[in-house]
Amino acid sequence: MKYNFDTPIDRLDSTSFKWNGAHLFLGEKARNALPLWVADMDFRVPREVIDALKNTADHGIFGYSITPDSYYDSVISWMGSHYKWSVKREWIYHSPGIVPGLNCIINAFTNEGDAIAIQPPVYYPFANSIANNSRRVVNNCLKLSNSRYTIDYDDLEKKFSTYNVKMFILCNPHNPVGRVWTKDELTKLGNICLKNNIIVVSDEIHADITFNGFSTTVFANISDYFAQKTIVCTSASKTFNLAGLQTANIIIPNKKLGNIFNNYMTRLNLLRPNIFGQVATQAAYNFGDEWLLQVKNYLQDNLDFLLHFVNQNIKGINVIKPEGTYLVWLDCRDLGLSGEELKMFMLDRAGVAFDDGYLFGPGGEGFTRINIACTRQTLREALRRIAVLT
Ligand SMILES: Cc1ncc(COP(=O)(O)O)c(C=O)c1O
Repeated sequence: MKYNFDTPIDRLDSTSFKWNGAHLFLGEKARNALPLWVADMDFRVPREVIDALKNTADHGIFGYSITPDSYYDSVISWMGSHYKWSVKREWIYHSPGIVPGLNCIINAFTNEGDAIAIQPPVYYPFANSIANNSRRVVNNCLKLSNSRYTIDYDDLEKKFSTYNVKMFILCNPHNPVGRVWTKDELTKLGNICLKNNIIVVSDEIHADITFNGFSTTVFANISDYFAQKTIVCTSASKTFNLAGLQTANIIIPNKKLGNIFNNYMTRLNLLRPNIFGQVATQAAYNFGDEWLLQVKNYLQDNLDFLLHFVNQNIKGINVIKPEGTYLVWLDCRDLGLSGEELKMFMLDRAGVAFDDGYLFGPGGEGFTRINIACTRQTLREALRRIAVLT
């Protein structure tokens, strides 16, 4: 089946956070701006997912649900075929989203006041989740050189020993800088974490979306030694545009760690799945390969279009070329604007809603993040609005 990602689908008045709720997060000026911010896609999901949801809806009874074997099989099969990762059923725990899962992981495995390391600029709920739970954020800032981000291993070692860090939250691939970390990079990083006896939480929600020539390495699949100290957070939600269904899988190979997480989630009664989220995830994993292939091609074309357009028409903005994720990190420092001024430049003057770089922590000021999982028409219009101002 050939999917059409090019024809716009009207999302206004659909309770979409991205299209109808931007003002709630970005302020009043965002009300009428063209939204290319929060990370969901403007694309309709695979036909099989819609059919599976319709089937479930037609049954007409939505009582408490269990997780069937077929659900576990779909997750296991996806991880096996895409990442050569042999996941065991008993490693998989439900969570109503990755961010809720992260908050629970932080609470289950660390104590108030403990230090947790992250790599800014990074997905801002990492820092928020740490701080909101009264833990300390330790920043191991990424290094930027020649428009490419890399890990500062020396700083990581120093931070681990100086702050007595207990947990490390990895973004793999990295939102917003778009790096798909290589096996060598992850191995070096993992060895430092393990030497310091630190639990690694690898958020791999963006794993499936990679551009030509790149593929994600599952952190826990590097070695059994790594697996025993790793909690992998996965979901079909970014890949197949299911974020509103609040369904994620937290995969924990180490039985002892798994029990700790299970006990914590049981206490909060959070292990019960959402019937629709489960059905959609299973259908996506079982039947979504062709859709994913096509959406990745469309995203690659969007990226190529953006790179060409910015290069030809926009002065003062340098694109950090992503290797994965459908989020593109734009270096706007040459525009010479402060964080707040850049926000207003985009929102008020250009009329486009992006995610402001400073939200992503140290190193984010002067940058902005654009979501290219939209029609070419939307992307072209957003870029045109900026081009006329530069
Ligand atoms: C790295 C990362 N983790 C988690 C999430 C959100 O996950 P969830 O909606 O399952 O809480 C996002 C959304 O953009 C993300 O980029």
